Formats: sequence, C-alpha cells, structure tokens
Amino acid sequence: MIHGRHLPPIRLAVVLAIFLAGCQSPSTAPSGDLYQQLGERTGIARIVEDLLFLIVEDDRINLAFKGIDVHQFHQHLTDQLCQLSGGPCTYTGRDMRELHADMKVTDTQFNALAENLVLAMEQNRVPTRAQNRLLARVVPLYPAIRDL
Ligand code: HEM
Repeated sequence: MIHGRHLPPIRLAVVLAIFLAGCQSPSTAPSGDLYQQLGERTGIARIVEDLLFLIVEDDRINLAFKGIDVHQFHQHLTDQLCQLSGGPCTYTGRDMRELHADMKVTDTQFNALAENLVLAMEQNRVPTRAQNRLLARVVPLYPAIRDL
C-alpha cells in the first residue's frame, strides 16, 4: 500500500478517466444519445440535405462547391456525421486532408460551413446541447481541412 500525497498510477488513471468522462457529458445523458438526438441516420441525412441548400445560398463558400457530385457528398458527409455521433456507420469517403488540401480553405469558409451545419440542425429541431456535442466532434477535423 502506498501512502502519502501521491496516488498510485492505476488509481490516478481511474480518477482521470472518471473526471474526463464527466467533462464530456456533464449531464446524466449517456454519450450514445447524440446519434438518437440527431434522428439517427435518417435525421442526419435530412440535416445534410438542408446543409446543402444553405451552402448553395452562401456566397462565402458556394463557389468552392460548384460542380461537385452532390449525391456522393451527401452520402459521405452523412456517414461521417453518423460515425462521429456514435452511430453504426463507417465513413468511406476520401481522406479529409488530401481532399481539402488543394482548396486552401480559409477560417471564414470553415466557420461558414460550421455555421450552416448549426442552422441545418436548428431547422431539424436538434436540441442545442446535441448541436454543441456534434460540433465538438467536427471541430477536431479543423487542422486537416485547413491543411495546417
Ligand atoms: C466542418 C467542416 C467540414 C467537413 C466536416 C467536411 C467534410 C467533407 C466530406 C465528408 C466530404 C466528402 C468526401 C468524399 O466524397 O470523399 C467533403 C467534400 C468536399 N468539401 Fe468539405 N468539409 C468541411 C469543410 C469544407 C469547407 C470549409 C469547404 C470549402 C469552402 C469544403 C469543400 C468541400 C468540397 C468542394 C468537397 C467536394 C469535393 C469533391 O467531391 O471533389 N469543405 N467535405
């Protein structure tokens, strides 16, 4: 038995794991709920469809999307968001960094897309907390998409 101010490493790891889990989901909702709150894959597909309309209307980013394969984009982004939200999907699209590298995506464009994703979730009545949780999982893609 180790006494004193220092916790044995195994106990420290357990304490940290519990603390970090608490940070990720401060309420009682289990993390699996996010996928449900987005309306499962059907709901996510609707969100992505609405996102596409918002992209077309947004002069900050619509030129970059001109001429893309809309069906493929819809399918891949839906699978990606489904997977990120904890759903039973597998993203089979191209590598995020390679795909966006030539586009020289700016901060303004990245923020515009994130903003439109929030608007699309709003239109689909996704609770604000779930919106924020999805955003928190999308934002780590920032360095790859910005090619930093
Ligand atoms: C939250 C940020 C973003 C995410 C999660 C994201 C995700 C994706 C995904 C999953 C695809 C489909 C990949 C595939 O079909 O293999 C895609 C394609 C694309 N993204 Fe992004 N993207 C983001 C930001 C942006 C921004 C800011 C721009 C430019 C303004 C952009 C421009 C494009 C374009 C033009 C395509 C289609 C490329 C093609 O089919 O040739 N993306 N993105």
